[in-house]
Amino acid sequence: MLVSLKEMLKDAYTNKYAIGAFNCLSLENVVGAISAAEELHSPIIIQLAEVQFPCAPIALMAPLYLNAAKAASVPVAVHLDHGQSIETCIQAMRLGFGSVMYDGASLPFAENVRITREVVRIANAFGVDVEAELGKVGNADSSENKKNPDVYTGVQESLLFIQRTGIDALAIAIGNKHGHYIATPHLNIERLTEIHEACEMPLVLHGGSGTSEEDFKSCIHNGICKINVATAIQLGVTDHIRQYLQSNANPDYIEMKEEIVKATKEVVTYHIRLFESEGRV
Ligand code: 13P
Repeated sequence: MLVSLKEMLKDAYTNKYAIGAFNCLSLENVVGAISAAEELHSPIIIQLAEVQFPCAPIALMAPLYLNAAKAASVPVAVHLDHGQSIETCIQAMRLGFGSVMYDGASLPFAENVRITREVVRIANAFGVDVEAELGKVGNADSSENKKNPDVYTGVQESLLFIQRTGIDALAIAIGNKHGHYIATPHLNIERLTEIHEACEMPLVLHGGSGTSEEDFKSCIHNGICKINVATAIQLGVTDHIRQYLQSNANPDYIEMKEEIVKATKEVVTYHIRLFESEGRV
C-alpha cells in the first residue's frame, strides 16, 4: 500500500528503527526491493534521484513506482531523492510522488533556507512531505579530510533550519559519504546524538552503502529513521550478472533479468534486517 513518508517515519522515530530508502533504476530493482519488504513484513521507501533521471526518466518510473507501491502488501513510500531545483520537486509532486527531497546543502545557509521553505510551501498544497539536507555529504572516493569538523552538520543550525523551513525530515552529514567507500567510514555519533536531542525530528542518513554494522546500529538508535542505499544495489547486481555470465555459455536475457531481481532482493533483505524494520507491519 502507498503511504506517506511522514507517517512511516513517525513510527520509526517512536520505535527507534530505520526504514531503508532504496534507489531503484529499473523494473527489476522495484520488484526485487518490494518483494524483500513483503517477505520480511517491513515498510520500505523506493526513491529516484535527479542525477539518475538520464538512465531512469522520472515520468516513466513514476507509474511503475506508484503501481508497485499500491499493489504491495506492505507500506511503500515513493520519494524523490536529491531534487536539485524547485522545478524538479514540482515535477515529482505532479507525477504523484508522496515526498521530495530538496538538496540545497551546497548553498549558503540562508539560501538553502529560502528555497527549502518555498519547496515546503508548494509541497503543503500538494499534500507532499519534504526532506532537506544540511552539511556536506561528500563522495566516498574523494580525498576530503574526514576529520574536518566543518563538514559535519551543526546542532544549532539544524534547529534553526527546521524551525525556518517546516520540513518533515532532515538529512545530516556526520562523516557519511555517497558511493563506494575505499575504507569503512567512522561516523560522528556524538554529533548525531546532539542533533537528535536538540531537534527531536526524524533524521536521514545518506550514503548508506559500506557503513559498518556498528555505526548503522548507533545511528538507528539515535534518531536516524531513513537510510539511503544506492551503491550497494548496483554492486550486488553487477556481481550477480558477472557470475551468471561466467557460468553460462549461452546467457539468456530473461534469466539475467531474474538475476537482477534476485540480487536486488538480497541486498535489500540484508539492509532491512540491519535497520531493524523487519516485522514492523
Ligand atoms: P550510497 O550510494 O552510498 O548507498 O548512497 C545513496 C544515497 O545516499 C542516495 O541519496
